[in-house]
Amino acid sequence: MLKTYFSYFLFLIFFTISCKNKKQFEAVKLSNKETLGRYLFFENKLSINNTKSCASCHSVDFAFTDGYRTSVTSLGENVLHNAPSLINAIYLKKYDWANPNATSFETQIKRPLYGNHPIELGLDKHINELQEVFKKDSLYAVLFKNAFPDSSKLFTSTQIEIAISAYEKTLISQSSSFDKGELTTAAYNGLKLFTSNRLKCVSCHPPPYFTLATLTENMDSIYANIGLYNVDNKNEYPAIDNGIYSITRQEKDNGKFKIPSLRNVMLTAPYMHDGSIATIDEVIDMYARGGRNVDYGNYKGDGNLNKNKNKLIAGFGLSAKEKQDLIAFLTSLTDSSIFYKQSFKNPFKKN
Ligand code: HEC
Ligand code: HEC
Repeated sequence: MLKTYFSYFLFLIFFTISCKNKKQFEAVKLSNKETLGRYLFFENKLSINNTKSCASCHSVDFAFTDGYRTSVTSLGENVLHNAPSLINAIYLKKYDWANPNATSFETQIKRPLYGNHPIELGLDKHINELQEVFKKDSLYAVLFKNAFPDSSKLFTSTQIEIAISAYEKTLISQSSSFDKGELTTAAYNGLKLFTSNRLKCVSCHPPPYFTLATLTENMDSIYANIGLYNVDNKNEYPAIDNGIYSITRQEKDNGKFKIPSLRNVMLTAPYMHDGSIATIDEVIDMYARGGRNVDYGNYKGDGNLNKNKNKLIAGFGLSAKEKQDLIAFLTSLTDSSIFYKQSFKNPFKKN
């Protein structure tokens, strides 16, 4: 109980600070590295067949996600996971849904660029050809020269990694109604529910980014099993995708995935690591039930009974009005200023 009051207090402090933070409205001027990174982030030529870029799966229209259950690679294959938002991702201590080893943009980026399971962009497969293309391209010749003025060799994959990572660090935005202190009565009631001892959402999704993953490196805090699966009622998630268990090999970690930020959550459907929940409404029903019952197919089983499920996911009652209030609060975390920031836009498109 005390803990809940404490988090509520935390919220009020955060609220007051962010209301005074007007800096976000100033136009961002990108450095030369960040500028090159912005072009490369939107550059389809990075992919093996010139069809996809980082932005294909991380589009500003969906708060830098893609609207798919699981993302589709340049070769048309589905990856295992749902694309997370990149806004404010700089503050995360760990990247991806269940990879404790990805602790910086510079390490994370190797998977989309060079990963083979499946191939996402496949940059390594055609880097030599791409370097020839960049050399002859007057725009990239200047962008690379400006970004790496002291380098004798330009257009290297390391420079591509460094520049895109630098750009990712500029994807910062905190101008939601919540940040501006403009909560409707419904949203304010929803905030009280979110921080209540009954719902306990704030224990895992605390401000300022509504995830523990920006606040600690402790794996037991950052990753949680929320009872989405209980295949054959054996306390396991689907074997092809069972969270950090695949790395730690500890039974207690089966089904633990990273706690995502809830900023812009109304723009980032579908939800969860595998995109298996379509709407916010259903997400809340799942939490109220204390886990999901999969009642047909290969993954049949009741997540509510999964012994590896986090103890905080115990279920709760919620009236229809309370549910609407909670959704109003989550909606107050939508930051529509992202649609107007020049540096978030595709540089190849003239407005
Ligand atoms: C095919 C679609 C696709 C492409 C292309 C892609 N991503 Fe992703 N991205 C994803 C998915 C899916 C995840 C989650 C991966 C996982 O956990 O297995 C992800 C995760 C991330 C994360 C971690 C975010 C977090 O909250 O942990 C970052 C950062 C990221 N991508 C940046 C990039 C960059 C930079 C590029 C271009 C070099 C890129 N992505 C290309 C789909 C894509
Ligand atoms: C025990 C920690 C924990 C608690 C408590 C918790 N969550 Fe979560 N939440 C998570 C984790 C972990 C995920 C991702 C799970 C996955 O994909 O397997 C998640 C995912 C979500 C998502 C989907 C976000 C996305 O981008 O896919 C929403 C929305 C959400 N939670 C809202 C809530 C609300 C509302 C509450 C309170 C009723 C709540 N959470 C309580 C840990 C928690």
